[in-house]
Amino acid sequence: MGLFDFLGKKIENRYALALDIGTEFAKALIFKVEEDKGIVVGAGRQRQKLSDMQGGAVTDIQGVVQNCQKAIERAAGQAQIMPTQVIMGIAGELVKGNTTTIKYTRPDPKIGITLEELKDIIARIQRRSFDRARQILAWETGHAEVDVKLVNAAIVDVKIDGYNVTNPLGFQGRELQVGVFNAFAPIVHLGALQTIAAELRLDLLSIVADPYALARSIGPKESTEFSAIFIDVGGGTTDIAVVRQGGVEGTKMFALGGRTFTKRIAQVFGTTFLEAEEIKIKYSKGELPAEDATFVKKALITDCQVWLSGVELTLEEFSSIELLPSRILLCGGGAMLPDIQETLKKAQWSPTLPFARIPNVHFIRPEDVENIVDQTGELKNPWDITPMSLANLGIDLVGEERITDSILNKIVASLRE
Ligand SMILES: Nc1ncnc2c1ncn2[C@@H]1O[C@H](COP(=O)(O)OP(=O)(O)OP(=O)(O)O)[C@@H](O)[C@H]1O
Ligand SMILES: [Mg+2]
Repeated sequence: MGLFDFLGKKIENRYALALDIGTEFAKALIFKVEEDKGIVVGAGRQRQKLSDMQGGAVTDIQGVVQNCQKAIERAAGQAQIMPTQVIMGIAGELVKGNTTTIKYTRPDPKIGITLEELKDIIARIQRRSFDRARQILAWETGHAEVDVKLVNAAIVDVKIDGYNVTNPLGFQGRELQVGVFNAFAPIVHLGALQTIAAELRLDLLSIVADPYALARSIGPKESTEFSAIFIDVGGGTTDIAVVRQGGVEGTKMFALGGRTFTKRIAQVFGTTFLEAEEIKIKYSKGELPAEDATFVKKALITDCQVWLSGVELTLEEFSSIELLPSRILLCGGGAMLPDIQETLKKAQWSPTLPFARIPNVHFIRPEDVENIVDQTGELKNPWDITPMSLANLGIDLVGEERITDSILNKIVASLRE
């Protein structure tokens, strides 16, 4: 089965599963779609083994399947229902998301925009974006022929003569601008997720890039005012998404997260990874004796600076000519380390980064996630945000497709043939 077969799939009996396979934890949410809301009725989480995942990517399929199964069983026990369909998140350094925008001047502005015209412009965007992703991945991996596949595509911006419209068909105007967000990943990564869904006997509705889901999780849906930098600090990766004027501009990840800090603590205390993990959590909660806390804090200084450089380098790739949003929104378990928040708040940002002003830093709260209502009472932590945002995207898989999405889906399908 090809990935393209998922396009156009719909949630059937209004229940579905959101599965976020993180480096450190597999997380499952069972949600029910009611009107435009997703009601979470079951949640489960299972720690993965160190050998199961590396930097957000699956390294042991059987191990991950077992962990997912446990997380799902917990969620299903609570929900008292087991959905058959799943929406999955994909993460890892080699998942690349970018928005490609084309502006095109129409020969006759008095004629209404036709379906053919729109199809043509979207097809051009998709080809350009695909070639670019393949080049980047070839360069980063050192393999000239990386087999790259499209993970998800979404129209993020349609303008006619500078006016935002949701469906451009029939409008007159001279300049048509269309922006499409695409996330690409090497075929091995996607294949691993497909195999996992199959082994779990789940019908795969959709795979989306984790940071894309995150970027869509807050901010009024159609607002063109909203701008923010989303940072999800997980166990193995830090995912970054930049949203400018309501549109997702791009997503990037680097392989540094909470595990790095745990490993450092294990090294300086001479303990195992799991013991160090306990020390780290106690440290975060202020439960360590003062002397040990000072020792930990010192031990983590360098890693925090390295992490911050990772954030800066990633943001540099986004900075082009426009200003960077001066709001940073944090989530992910790794962000609970107080030193991470401090590092961001006190950062001497590189002068090459075009922040309009010093960015403020806030946590995304579970209740901030659009359209998701938690009935379990358990979604209270920063690591719940990504699975909740997957569920939020899942809501759109019920009901009618927007005209622009349906055109995009058809073009994507034809490019994949
Ligand atoms: N109270 C805490 N203080 C510090 N770190 C914490 C705390 N609670 C959890 N963490 C860290 O959060 C990390 C796990 O977070 P999360 O579940 O978001 O990661 P993940 O989704 O599994 O990984 P990734 O997104 O990188 O694939 C672990 O490294 C864990 O040590
Ligand atoms: Mg994660």
